[in-house]
Amino acid sequence: MNNPYLPYPVRIADVRVETEDKNLRSYWLSFENKEDAAAFRYEPGQFAELSIAGLGEIPIGIASSPTEGDTLLFTVNKTGVVTTKLHNMQPGDVMGVRGPLGKSYPLAASEGKNIVIIAGGFAVTTLRATMVWLLNPENRPKYGDITFIYGARAPGMLLYKDELTAWQGRDDVRCHITVDRPAEGWDGIVGFVPTVTEQAAPSPDNAVALVCGPPIMIKYTQPVLDKLGWQADQILLSLENRMKCGIGICGRCNVGPYMVCKDGPVFTKAELDHLPKEY
Ligand SMILES: Cc1cc2nc3c(=O)[nH]c(=O)nc-3n(C[C@H](O)[C@H](O)[C@H](O)COP(=O)(O)OP(=O)(O)OC[C@H]3O[C@@H](n4cnc5c(N)ncnc54)[C@H](O)[C@@H]3O)c2cc1C
Ligand code: FES
Repeated sequence: MNNPYLPYPVRIADVRVETEDKNLRSYWLSFENKEDAAAFRYEPGQFAELSIAGLGEIPIGIASSPTEGDTLLFTVNKTGVVTTKLHNMQPGDVMGVRGPLGKSYPLAASEGKNIVIIAGGFAVTTLRATMVWLLNPENRPKYGDITFIYGARAPGMLLYKDELTAWQGRDDVRCHITVDRPAEGWDGIVGFVPTVTEQAAPSPDNAVALVCGPPIMIKYTQPVLDKLGWQADQILLSLENRMKCGIGICGRCNVGPYMVCKDGPVFTKAELDHLPKEY
């Protein structure tokens, strides 16, 4: 039996600084062994544990889509010990990836529906994976309208700028990219994600909403969706609890009866509504 704690060795293929404060960097990781790449079968919404030998492991959402091949993308915010070490690593360095872990967004069950994606800050990572997956020519015909609402504090804090430009240029995606306050050189939308969501007014008819962002954004976006007529079972939220094992054993990530790492991180709002607000 395979040891679920053993990471796959991966090499940093490319690093990209994403934001003007340089605190968010994207890492493209290539598997050292072909058979590991074949074993790592994932779907948008899942996460992995990134490990640095002798230092530790951290859960990070998978920002690439399986439609992009075997190289994995992670976008990491510099917060503490492991993420700081990662920010000092360079292309060619070797590290570990354990996973894929957790549940994905229910994209297969959502075929035939309109998809509304609402992202705040750097939580856009797994929603980038979702967008790339949905817009893949093989997948796009299986879905109706796609609405993408994404907000960052400032233009320089938006991630994946080239992709945002490409998505804004498509006539089969309604893009609402916003920043919190007016900024020099920005002629796009200004306003917080909940306000922009209310203005965009995505219809709940035959639709699902995938929402991921900081707690404050989630808190103020939920009533907007309620007002627009969305039901709790149409809204998917992704939680970021503190984790250790990532596989439902250590009990560190629990909320009510759920282990967020195994039963989530993706939950319907209906599942979360009756839980203590520990997340
Ligand atoms: C499912 C999931 C997906 C995530 N996806 C991303 C992502 O795509 N990009 C990204 O930058 N971060 C993501 N995170 C958060 C990331 O795991 C933490 O920021 C990281 O563990 C911090 O590690 P550190 O050793 O550098 O910081 P530490 O020195 O351990 O802590 C620094 C700060 O980070 C917070 N933190 C520490 N561990 C966690 C944790 N496991 N979960 C949440 N917060 C934590 C603490 O509140 C602390 O204030 C995700 C977390 C989860 C659970
Ligand atoms: S992280 Fe160990 S049970 Fe979830």
